[in-house]
Amino acid sequence: MAKMWAGRTDGSTDQLADDFNSSIHFDSRMYRQDIRGSMAHAAMLGAQGIIAPAEADALIDGLQGILDDLESGALAFDLSCEDIHMFVEQVLTERLGDVGKKLHTARSRNDQVALDLRMYLRDECATLTALLTELIGTVADQAEAHKAVILPGYTHLQRAQPITFGHHLMAYAMMLLRDVDRLQDTVRRMNQSPIGCCALAGTTYHTDRRMEAARLGFDGICLNSLDGVSDRDFCAELMSTLAILMMHLSRFSEEIILWSSWEFKFIELSDSFTTGSSIMPQKKNPDMAELVRGKTGRVYGDLMALLTTLKGLPLAYNKDMQEDKESVFDACDTVKMCVEVFTGMVRTMTVRADNMKRAAQTGFINATDLADYLVKKGLPFRSAYKVAGQLVARCIADGQVLDTLPLTVYKEYSDLFAEDVYQEIALETCVAKRISEGGTSVESVEAQVKYVREKLAV
Ligand code: ARG
Repeated sequence: MAKMWAGRTDGSTDQLADDFNSSIHFDSRMYRQDIRGSMAHAAMLGAQGIIAPAEADALIDGLQGILDDLESGALAFDLSCEDIHMFVEQVLTERLGDVGKKLHTARSRNDQVALDLRMYLRDECATLTALLTELIGTVADQAEAHKAVILPGYTHLQRAQPITFGHHLMAYAMMLLRDVDRLQDTVRRMNQSPIGCCALAGTTYHTDRRMEAARLGFDGICLNSLDGVSDRDFCAELMSTLAILMMHLSRFSEEIILWSSWEFKFIELSDSFTTGSSIMPQKKNPDMAELVRGKTGRVYGDLMALLTTLKGLPLAYNKDMQEDKESVFDACDTVKMCVEVFTGMVRTMTVRADNMKRAAQTGFINATDLADYLVKKGLPFRSAYKVAGQLVARCIADGQVLDTLPLTVYKEYSDLFAEDVYQEIALETCVAKRISEGGTSVESVEAQVKYVREKLAV
């Protein structure tokens, strides 16, 4: 097919070169943004008297027709076109004749593609924010339902101190809340319009970039034309945000996988979010969590691919930049799927409070509270720590636990021990007394749930 840019050359490129060069098979997904951007451009050209107002109207109507036909399926993408921008302009020219050829006045594909991508990704950020809000709401619901369920908290994957399951879940809600915040921050910098930067140097026409930007919902314009067409920070920033989000989901996945094992049995995933084995009849595998953990590597890879593509590029546009889209689209698609599946998995999981409690009863996770008991009776902390450690060693030697160790034995180690020690080191007390802001007590979990809900209005 004849190239729109045929002129200096006759445009008769090798088929292999065409296939290699073409991006329409992945950039066609930006057709709405491309058409909307072109409508704003035509309106601006008309308003500025660069083309006649009637021509602007004709272009806008023509573009609307293309949009309608693409949406209804009456028009299909022509994969022999180089990219979505060329496709739309070609169809417009076929339909309108010479007027169609005026659309590309005072712009270039370099600012056009930057515009489309910013608009597309800003929409993706809105979708991602909504999906993430749903997930955080679901995590908060589970936290609230299990705000008093006790399990061991771990450090070094060794039982450390008793916590509530609600508290554990809310740790993830806080991380995900920061991810939402990062997304909003990303959009703030992304939402500056590059259109009007043209090929690289701006234009000699009296355009009104700010009018065009405002029409397209941007907060401002890129103030340096070279930067406007060369900048892909907004893609890298979004992918960094997504990489961090996936890191959070991956840690959460790892715990879900551990908790579902026979060794822990803290939760049971719903049949609808697990799979079986083709050979072992007893298996119920946490594939969804494993896939989220696995896809985290893929999203990191997308980020690294773009950063590497960009690092050696001289200003301004280089065709290498066409490689930006597949990585950023893949990252968005992957994360959207992961967040949605994760929400379903968390919503439908069953919490095994009995097994959590059983695990909390061994491992001496109330030893800190035993030391604190002595501190409150006047012993310096370091001495109290030592006594508690000796008592743990004694229990291990005797096959005992602190909760049922006779008072006479306690007294061998310190006169300060009295009958009230048992109440003081009961798991429920350990949790209930952790009232410091952000601690594991039920009230604290309730406050966290409230905070998150208010932040997200869920
Ligand atoms: N398909 C191209 C891309 O995605 C559009 C911009 C092409 N510009 C150019 N000067 N060849 O980057």
